[in-house]
Amino acid sequence: MQKIINIAVIGCGYWGPNLIRNFRSVPNCNLVAVCDMKAERLSHMQNLYSGIKITADYREVVENSDIHAVAIATPVFSHLELGRQALLGGKHTFIEKPMASSSAQCRELIGLAEKKGLTLMVGHTFIYSTPVRKIKEIVDYGDIGELLYVTSQRLNLGLFQKDINVAWDLAPHDVSIILFVMGHAPSSVNCQGKEHMHSGVEGVTNMSLNFSNGGFATVQSSWLDPNKVRRMTFVGTKRMILYDDNEPLEKIKIYDKRVEVPPHYDTFAEFQFAYHYGDMYAPYLNQVEPLKVQCQHFLDCIKTGEKPLSSGLEGLQVVQVLEAASESLRRGGAKVDIDYAAAVDHLLAKRKGKVRRVGEDGLSTPERVASIELGLIAR
Ligand SMILES: NC(=O)c1ccc[n+]([C@@H]2O[C@H](COP(=O)([O-])OP(=O)(O)OC[C@H]3O[C@@H](n4cnc5c(N)ncnc54)[C@H](O)[C@@H]3O)[C@@H](O)[C@H]2O)c1
Repeated sequence: MQKIINIAVIGCGYWGPNLIRNFRSVPNCNLVAVCDMKAERLSHMQNLYSGIKITADYREVVENSDIHAVAIATPVFSHLELGRQALLGGKHTFIEKPMASSSAQCRELIGLAEKKGLTLMVGHTFIYSTPVRKIKEIVDYGDIGELLYVTSQRLNLGLFQKDINVAWDLAPHDVSIILFVMGHAPSSVNCQGKEHMHSGVEGVTNMSLNFSNGGFATVQSSWLDPNKVRRMTFVGTKRMILYDDNEPLEKIKIYDKRVEVPPHYDTFAEFQFAYHYGDMYAPYLNQVEPLKVQCQHFLDCIKTGEKPLSSGLEGLQVVQVLEAASESLRRGGAKVDIDYAAAVDHLLAKRKGKVRRVGEDGLSTPERVASIELGLIAR
C-alpha cells in the first residue's frame, strides 16, 4: 500500500467537519476532496481549508482513481448507496454510525468489502476513547469481578430527527461500548418508547439487552431531557465503575462497593446481605481526541490489512440490536431474538484468535450455515 493515503469525505453537515479536521491532522494522510450536496457547506469548507477540492457529486469522488479511501458522514438512509458505490469504486470505506438502515444492508456492504479486499470501518467513536479503553482493560483484567450488568443513559434536548428514532440516533454509541466491553452481542432485546414531536418517531426509548451468558444491560435514550447526560455504570461482583463523559477530568470512578451473600446461615433471621463500602478512586486518563485515534486506526488498517476494531461485523452487530429494538417497539416491548448473534460473535472471536478450530474453517455446522446466510463465508 502507498505511504500517503489520499482520502475524501462525503457529507459536511454537523459531523463531517470533525472527520475532515482529524484526517487533515494525522500523518501520511492527504485530504484531497470534500463532497456535499449543499453549496453553502462546500463554500464553508473551502473557507476553512483553502486549496481543498470540493464537489457536490459523490461520483467525482468514487470514480477518481487518485483517491484511495472515502469517509461517509451523511444521514443513515444514504449509507448503503454511498458505501456500495465507494466500495465498487475500489475505495477503502469508513461509514459513520449506524452503519446502515438494516442488517441486510450491512451484510451487503461487508460482502462487497470482502470480495474487493478493501477495509470497511464503522464510526463507533467511543471505543477509541481513553475512558472506554480503560474500562475494557479493568473489566478484562477481572478488577471488578464478574460483570453483572451495565446501565447507560444518553439524554439531551434535541436534536429531533425525522427519519430515525432516538435509539438509532443515540444508542449506537451505548450499544457499541457495551458490546466492546462485554466482548459479545446480546441474544435478545426488549424496547419501549414514546413519540412526542414527530408521529412514528420515538424521541424517548428504554432498551434492555439480554445476553446468552446471563449478562444484562439497559440503555436509555432521549431527545427530551433538560440536561445533557452521558452516564454508564458497570456493576461487577467485586467493584463498580461509574463513567460520566461530561466530567472534564475524572470521567471514570471505581467504587469498592459490593453486596455479599453470607456463605451459610442456620435460620432465616440470621440471613443478612453484607454491604461493603470501600474507597473510590479515579484513574489517570491520558486525554486524546477519540476521533483522531479512530482516523489513525482507519489509515493503519488500510496499510496493514488488519480488520478494524469497529469493522463491518461490529457495525452489523449494532444494527442488529437497533433492528430488534425497532421490532420490539412495534410489538409493545416484547422480547425479540437476534438471529445469528452467536454466529457473528463466533466469527469475531475467531478473527481475534480466541476460538479453537472446529472444522476446516473453524466453524461448527450451525455456525457455518448461519455464516453462509450472513454472506460472511462462501457457500
Ligand atoms: N460518531 C459520532 O459521534 C457522530 C456524531 C454525530 C453524527 N454522527 C453520524 O454522522 C452522520 C451524519 O450526521 P450529521 O449529524 O452530520 O448529519 P447532517 O444532516 O448534519 O449532515 C449530513 C450532510 O450530508 C450531506 N449529504 C447527504 N446526502 C449526500 C449525498 N448523497 N452526497 C453528498 N452529500 C450528502 C447533506 O447535505 C448534509 O450536509 C450520521 O450517520 C450520524 O449518525 C456520528
